[in-house]
Amino acid sequence: MRMTSELQSTLVEAASAPYQAADPFAWYFARGKLRGDPIFICLLEQGLIPSGARLLDLGCGQGLLAAWLLAAKAHAERRDWPTEMPQPPALVSVRGIELLPRNVERARRALGSQASFTHGNICDTDFGETDVIVMLDVLHYIDYEAQAMVLRRIHQALTPSGLLILRVGDAAGGLQFRISYWFDRLVWLLRGVRNQRLYCRRLADWQHLLQANGFSAETVPITRVAYTANVLLVAKPISVL
Ligand SMILES: C[S@@+](CC[C@H](N)C(=O)[O-])C[C@H]1O[C@@H](n2cnc3c(N)ncnc32)[C@H](O)[C@@H]1O
Repeated sequence: MRMTSELQSTLVEAASAPYQAADPFAWYFARGKLRGDPIFICLLEQGLIPSGARLLDLGCGQGLLAAWLLAAKAHAERRDWPTEMPQPPALVSVRGIELLPRNVERARRALGSQASFTHGNICDTDFGETDVIVMLDVLHYIDYEAQAMVLRRIHQALTPSGLLILRVGDAAGGLQFRISYWFDRLVWLLRGVRNQRLYCRRLADWQHLLQANGFSAETVPITRVAYTANVLLVAKPISVL
């Protein structure tokens, strides 16, 4: 079932409200991203994250996924949740790892003790043991060798029935991919980084990479219109590395 626009607006307001305590930019950014990026609704509508999981968000930015899932769960506990939609997951713990200290600070200030955020690089920060790892629009920032290494580290961190939910750009995605690519470059430029290289792959190559590192992966249709060449994949560890 599709989430009504009324419920979507309520959740966007609830999930972004804690960022007012962090800083005005973080609040505006939270509202814009939660409203404009279909991934957040999609994860709930499709019930992709199971209850009872320990969740780790790699490259978590300012912790929007954590804020969204916590707001949805709190809303479902207080008010009626559409019976046709999967219940928001009751998570045992929510952690995030993020490279930019400013983002970590915003996430911590917004969510306090409801989630924990570590300032670190996903290439070498300890993942601990976990049930679900989410990594949205992050892997293309690290070089090709490091991508494989991070996937192996994820494989080791996941429990045997664990899940990796990741979104990547499909370099075979034509104009939509090129627009996302140049937008990404522009964002880095605005942050003062001139030559940020992006390590993109075609969808078939991402799938091959996952397979080569012990995962079986399926693409999941994003249930809303998305104006990008980004693809959502759900991967399960299948072999011992
Ligand atoms: C496009 S943003 C996506 C943020 C978040 N996943 C979301 O969907 O809202 C990519 C994030 O990954 C972070 N990042 C990039 N490389 C990283 C690394 N090696 N280790 C940790 N975080 C990283 C960036 O700082 C940025 O916050």
